[in-house]
Amino acid sequence: MSLSGTDRRRAAVGAVLRGRAARPGSPATATAPANVALVKYWGKRDADLNLPVTDSLSVSLGDAGTRTTVAAAERDGFRLNGGAVDPAAPEAARLARFLDLFRSPACPGFAVDSVNTVPTAAGVASSASGFAALVRALDGLLGWGLDAASLSVLARLGSGSACRSLWDGFVRWRAGVAADGSDSRGEPLGVEWPDLRVGLWVVSDRPKATGSREGMLRTVGTSPLYAGWPSVVAGDLAAVEPAIAARDLAALGAAAEGNAMAMHATAAAARPAVLYWLPESLHAMARIARLRDDGIPVWFTMDAGPNLKLLFEAASGPALCAAVPGLRELRPFGPRV
Ligand code: DP6
Repeated sequence: MSLSGTDRRRAAVGAVLRGRAARPGSPATATAPANVALVKYWGKRDADLNLPVTDSLSVSLGDAGTRTTVAAAERDGFRLNGGAVDPAAPEAARLARFLDLFRSPACPGFAVDSVNTVPTAAGVASSASGFAALVRALDGLLGWGLDAASLSVLARLGSGSACRSLWDGFVRWRAGVAADGSDSRGEPLGVEWPDLRVGLWVVSDRPKATGSREGMLRTVGTSPLYAGWPSVVAGDLAAVEPAIAARDLAALGAAAEGNAMAMHATAAAARPAVLYWLPESLHAMARIARLRDDGIPVWFTMDAGPNLKLLFEAASGPALCAAVPGLRELRPFGPRV
């Protein structure tokens, strides 16, 4: 008899925790950075365990992320950015489903209080930093003493991209081959690039029409272009890793921008189309191309939404902030405040 999705998720957690006690201690607080994928995760080979079709590679966003406090409770209670989350909201259901994996008689519920250090509307996915901060906080509350690699496996079960948010800097998510996902986790590259900047260009703060989970499912299931995606990723990873090692922004930017366009092309070809771009997104893309023609080394990437994330170096910051009013400049390798 085949196991249900929930049973497979529980088994995957059991393989990580290996009988560690679930006796809650005092409330624990942890932080984790958001991350931006330079080579995207787009498509699952296993939707229960968030196992990806391909590797992906991201850069974490330093101070921009989530701070979470978790405490044992009789029943669940969630707070986000200072306000209570409606238990009927989809985010609350998703969180409760994740926490189901960690409940015990000694800890039937969890009080989770999260604050995003970048506004959710700023276009940086908060689920990645949210689940990464949560597993770190659970590790503190429940006294597991797990290393970052094991916490990465747990975070992946909340949201795939969260498995890359357990480290600062550049992180490659190895797709792995194990059926239980025990080898599908982040791995830090260990390269510092202090001058690298990520700019958030918010063209719309309206909620996106199609979440990434649904967008991926539909793309994998119906897009005639998806068959070409794994080889696009392989080529872009082969370009991005040496570009990072050499701190070669032009090579990194070109590969990351091309990868994002290819991802959106596969999604747009799904039936019905998964289209994340707004007219404002296209204007912004054209503006970046013009700025580049004018001699400013800047490239963009885009995730499952209409906003752009710019890649540039510190020296271009003033010119870009002048050209793009409201641009928010983040320092992936900046000093922690
Ligand atoms: C476009 O990690 O949010 O940002 O695993 O279903 O939670 P789930 O998806 P999620 O997808 C992120 C997609 C992306 C690309 C990326 O971050 O690699």
